[in-house]
Amino acid sequence: MAQPTAPVATASQLRCIACGLVTAQTTPNFRCSACGDLLEIAPPDSDSSAFDVAKTKALWLQRRSSRHPLDQSGVWRFRDLLPGFSDESTIITLREGNTPLYELPGCARIAGLRNLTAKHQGMNPTGSFKDTGMTVAASVARQQGFRWVACASTGNTSASMAAYAARGQMRSLVLIPEGKVSWGKLSQALDYGAVTCQLRTDFDGCMRVLNEVIQRMPVYLLNSVNPYRIEGQKTAAIELLEQLDWQPPDHVIVPGGNLGNSSALGKAFLEMKGLGFISALPKISIIQAEGANALVRSVRETGGTRLVAVDAETAASAIRIGNPASWKKAVRVLQATGGAVEQVSEIEIALAKAEIGADGIGCEPASAVTLAGLKKLIKQGFVKSGESVVLILTGHLLKDPEFTLKFHRGDLFAGSAHEKEVGILAAQQRAPIVLDAAADQVLKVLEKADRRL
Ligand code: F0G
Repeated sequence: MAQPTAPVATASQLRCIACGLVTAQTTPNFRCSACGDLLEIAPPDSDSSAFDVAKTKALWLQRRSSRHPLDQSGVWRFRDLLPGFSDESTIITLREGNTPLYELPGCARIAGLRNLTAKHQGMNPTGSFKDTGMTVAASVARQQGFRWVACASTGNTSASMAAYAARGQMRSLVLIPEGKVSWGKLSQALDYGAVTCQLRTDFDGCMRVLNEVIQRMPVYLLNSVNPYRIEGQKTAAIELLEQLDWQPPDHVIVPGGNLGNSSALGKAFLEMKGLGFISALPKISIIQAEGANALVRSVRETGGTRLVAVDAETAASAIRIGNPASWKKAVRVLQATGGAVEQVSEIEIALAKAEIGADGIGCEPASAVTLAGLKKLIKQGFVKSGESVVLILTGHLLKDPEFTLKFHRGDLFAGSAHEKEVGILAAQQRAPIVLDAAADQVLKVLEKADRRL
């Protein structure tokens, strides 16, 4: 087996994003002990003389034919750029990553683009992008000997954490907002053995409670303020570049909730440019739901200098977050890559999700904000019809089947303020049809449907 060309990632030096303090010690909440801001793993030394890009690319390709569990993981295949582990046998992997890049021809036509692709992070083992970060951070928890790991979540983080904790023989504590997490995600956490508390509050309230819990018990925090999660989530960008033969797209469009994922992807592209893997950066644009638009407001109202927290409300429950922890990191990504920030309505999200579905690709509502946002960015002239665009689809359709069923039955907006706007959804709605068990009846439906095409 070939060896890495240079050990660019060392045993993870942590650095404060605000005051620059470098430390090897972490506080339980992963905040800087001097100024209280977020920490990040210091980027690899960009002295490219120590790093052979061509050899590293070849090594990563070679690992794809290996039977070694770490090589079969689409995260650990890139371990030369991940924090080093003294004992690799403690790494917990479910063979995460390795997610496909799909063309979306129907959506491209609707949006007015020549071509459009989606990187489907919902094709990870627990059905969301969270697995790529969880494999790294949960492994750190295990290596440090923690018995308990914990997170506050809108559902996907908890599903992922519970799975990785179970695989690593750790216990897990989940805090979720009562009644605001889809059943698909909740059932995953239960099945993987998490102690699951549904708190009578929202995501931001769960986060507040958890921050107190971790001060009072030796519990390892697995929210995306954990910088090891960000390191793992970076690999989606590396894998994407490899899939595109190291030709970066013009635009990458990502949903924004707690803003860990946009921060991770941005960090990855910047580091890949620093190391010489790519010579240009994609513009990374972040899309939020109108009802959970803290970043949009922060950028528009303060130029990104201050967080404008909001009371979040959206049916895209994964991104129902009003006080995003990683807002500063996300602002830096927008500034460094020249990306845009945009918000989309509930109707626009529902329509975009159905349009992605009509291309044969299922995703959850939070993922569909990317297409809804793209349409706006095209109208504004920020994205041009000939440019290459990659949407990051963050979660699988089956995470939230209730949303999809309600959409097709026409119930999604019943009794809501959006009821008057639902006309534009009709062309995408396909309610199930109840019939007697007779071929005649089925054929009649078929003929009618055939005429509609
Ligand atoms: N899409 C999905 C499907 C998500 O689950 C999340 C976040 C996001 C997008 C937003 O990503 O927070 O990194 O900006 N879900 C978290 C959770 C908060 O608890 O599962 P972000």
